[in-house]
Amino acid sequence: MAREIKAIRKKLDAINTDRQNFHLEVRQVEVRVGSRERDNTHSFVPAEVVIGRKDDKKAVIDLLMDSNVEENVSILPIVGIGGLGKTTLAQFVFNDHQIQKHFELKMWVCVSDMFDVKNIFAKVLESATKEKPADAEMDTLVAKLREKIQGKKYFLVLDDVWNGDHRKWCRLKEVLMGGARGSRIVVTTRNEIVAKTIRQESVASIIGTVESYSLKGLDEDASWSLFKQKAFKRGQEPENISMVALGKEIVKKCSGVPLAISTIGSLLGSKNSEAEWVYFKNNELSKISQNVSDLLPTLKLSYDHLPSHLKHCFAYCSLFPKDCWFDTSNLIRLWIAQGLVKSSDDQSRCLKEVGEEYFMDLLWRSFFQEARTDEFGDVIECKMHDLMHDLAISVAGSLIATLDDKERNLDGKTRHVSLLVGYDKPISSLCEASRIRTFLFLNDLMYKIDCDELFSSFKFLRMLDLSCRDLDYVPSSIGELKHLRCLDLSLNENIKKLPDSITRLQNLQELILWGCASLKELPRDIKKLVNLRHLEILGCGGLTYMPRGLGKLNNLETLTNFVVHSGSHFKHCGGLRELNGLNKLSGSLMISNLGHGKDVALEYKAVNLKEKQHLHSLTLFWSIQGDVNDWDVVDDKMPWEGFQPPPNLKHLYLHHYPGSRLPSWVFSLTNLVKLWLCDCRTLKSLPLQHLTSVQELFLVRCLELELANDKDGMQWQGLTSLLSLCFSGLPKLVSLPSRLQHATTLQNLRITNCESLKAIPEWIHNFKSLQDFEIDGCSSLTSLPEGMGRLTSLKRLTIKNCPILLRRCKRDTGDDWAKIAHVPELELL
Ligand SMILES: Nc1ncnc2c1ncn2[C@@H]1O[C@H](COP(=O)(O)OP(=O)(O)OP(=O)(O)O)[C@@H](O)[C@H]1O
Ligand SMILES: [Mg+2]
Repeated sequence: MAREIKAIRKKLDAINTDRQNFHLEVRQVEVRVGSRERDNTHSFVPAEVVIGRKDDKKAVIDLLMDSNVEENVSILPIVGIGGLGKTTLAQFVFNDHQIQKHFELKMWVCVSDMFDVKNIFAKVLESATKEKPADAEMDTLVAKLREKIQGKKYFLVLDDVWNGDHRKWCRLKEVLMGGARGSRIVVTTRNEIVAKTIRQESVASIIGTVESYSLKGLDEDASWSLFKQKAFKRGQEPENISMVALGKEIVKKCSGVPLAISTIGSLLGSKNSEAEWVYFKNNELSKISQNVSDLLPTLKLSYDHLPSHLKHCFAYCSLFPKDCWFDTSNLIRLWIAQGLVKSSDDQSRCLKEVGEEYFMDLLWRSFFQEARTDEFGDVIECKMHDLMHDLAISVAGSLIATLDDKERNLDGKTRHVSLLVGYDKPISSLCEASRIRTFLFLNDLMYKIDCDELFSSFKFLRMLDLSCRDLDYVPSSIGELKHLRCLDLSLNENIKKLPDSITRLQNLQELILWGCASLKELPRDIKKLVNLRHLEILGCGGLTYMPRGLGKLNNLETLTNFVVHSGSHFKHCGGLRELNGLNKLSGSLMISNLGHGKDVALEYKAVNLKEKQHLHSLTLFWSIQGDVNDWDVVDDKMPWEGFQPPPNLKHLYLHHYPGSRLPSWVFSLTNLVKLWLCDCRTLKSLPLQHLTSVQELFLVRCLELELANDKDGMQWQGLTSLLSLCFSGLPKLVSLPSRLQHATTLQNLRITNCESLKAIPEWIHNFKSLQDFEIDGCSSLTSLPEGMGRLTSLKRLTIKNCPILLRRCKRDTGDDWAKIAHVPELELL
């Protein structure tokens, strides 16, 4: 729970920072995943397509749509052993367009170990409203849920149910009965294991008001397809027929259980020779139990074949609770802090990159699943299958302990501990395990931590996560933790200052402070932390300067932001020059409070941005103080010309940029994917040639910007990769630039608060790929062009705050209704 809240807070924080930065209501726009070429061995994420199961899907859908069922709501259990594909099938059904059309409301809840009725209600409500309900009493939750489903034909999936408590089910049903006739609930459960574990009647028979669907293994063809995908390059069957025959024999032993097939397939995929396959089949596979319902020995085989560094990393994952989403970078950070990631022979690769490779290797070998990627194709989150998690726990043994409300004794061997939901004893009760190296607090946020006691009892800590713990200060005894490599204090909003003793932590590699909104300064002697690699300080709005000497930390790979001190210099304050030698910086960098005058030109140059080859995102905020008229508008003399970023920069965000033209270096950024220009109030023109990679262009509150002036070199047709475009608060936008019509790849278009915009052009129909179109606050628009009717890809159209237009778009009767009636999702407000 604590982790979930943290994750949500993290996201909210990020959204909030964005909002503050851009003063903009940004709707999530989906950007196509363009996979980035990487040079490691697993350069792509295995796509999880459902193989086979078409008949199962049809059968389940038929059962769900059966109109002969008398009751309002009925429950269909999908039953089968672990790893058989129940969740996958339920997802397959859930995402089917027939289901989409048939039900008014769809909800998905992962129940797992937690069978607390209140919790389930909260999760169902959350899924229905897409919002986390505030901590509410049972009665309020029930009332809200009843209201939400009242009279609606809904479809609910309760995934992974273990509990068969009759009374709890009755309570659930009582509330869920309120849907309209035809509402359906699908429950996935392992059944036999439930029966064994809790010695009650099987879940299925208690709740099964409809016959249950008993899932079988994949058939021979589907099993082979899945195996091929994992074991052979690009899923291609090899020409060597004896290898094929061997593969088929091995697949047979997996009895159609997809988890077994993919794990064994991936394992064999890492072995190329026939001899290795034969050895595996005869000497390893043949020795394990052939009891299909017990997959652990099969999965263990795959573990046994891991190189030892990956074994440790995998076992370490058992610190986290089941069913959690692993934040990839967080996990890699933990591995590094524990010394589980070995530096590579190749000096140019940092530990983080090696860690990423470990992670991809484990993902590839099916130890992780459901990978979610960012727009660079990098995995940001993933899950671990329940049974894999069981395996991680079993191989970790007493080295790792996860503590919850159940009694459990630690022994001297325990090195890594996480406190999960339910753990409420004082830390002192863990003192026997004094050699603990990792402490993760994943329990209730209300759990009070006595930091002094923690620091004095566990001197061997390498990783300490105290994020989101409502700390007011950090005791100076933290300086005793000589082995500490990673300290996470993020989201402690009351901490104003860190103790100076922190700079005694010579091994510290990561200091994570994001969201410490009250933090006034960083430790003045920060330069003593010679091993510091990551300093995360986004959302630390109280910081007004960077300490002098920061530039000596030349191992720094992450410095999320750099605040330029304004006003008189004082002796502890480091200027922009501190950035000069920090050439290992990677990822994102934000520099805020930049000055304007000519005198800062040298400082800008001294930043030496172009040597920072690993940066992929740069945000520059100019200070909004200062007199606009003082600015030198002869562009080539402008100080910011010295800011040349590295040529492979992917994202560039400029805020309050004070020039009339963009710096010339912008046009050399031929790899740029995102360009946001916000509050660039004096900016007049925007030559776009060369920016052929740009996928996302946001122009926000640029008051002088005239876009329709095609003569000015606005070569919109050069934007051959454009997917998302936003014009917001552009008072000089009278018509859309005509050359924009050539940007036919466009998928999302937002035009908001452009009061002077007179018309949407007829050529809009050229946007054959447009899926999402929003017009908001453009009151001069009086009609829609005929071309709207030809936007066949359009999935969603939003028109808000455009009174005349909205009248014309009135359902059935409005003059423009026919032009938009074909759009599946219309929001006219
Ligand atoms: N038809 C399929 N095609 C491809 N992969 C599949 C298929 N079915 C399942 N898988 C993969 O096999 C693994 C196990 O599937 P899933 O999680 O759906 O099993 P389950 O029956 O829900 O297990 P549990 O009882 O532990 O919840 C997952 O990694 C999933 O991606
Ligand atoms: Mg499941």
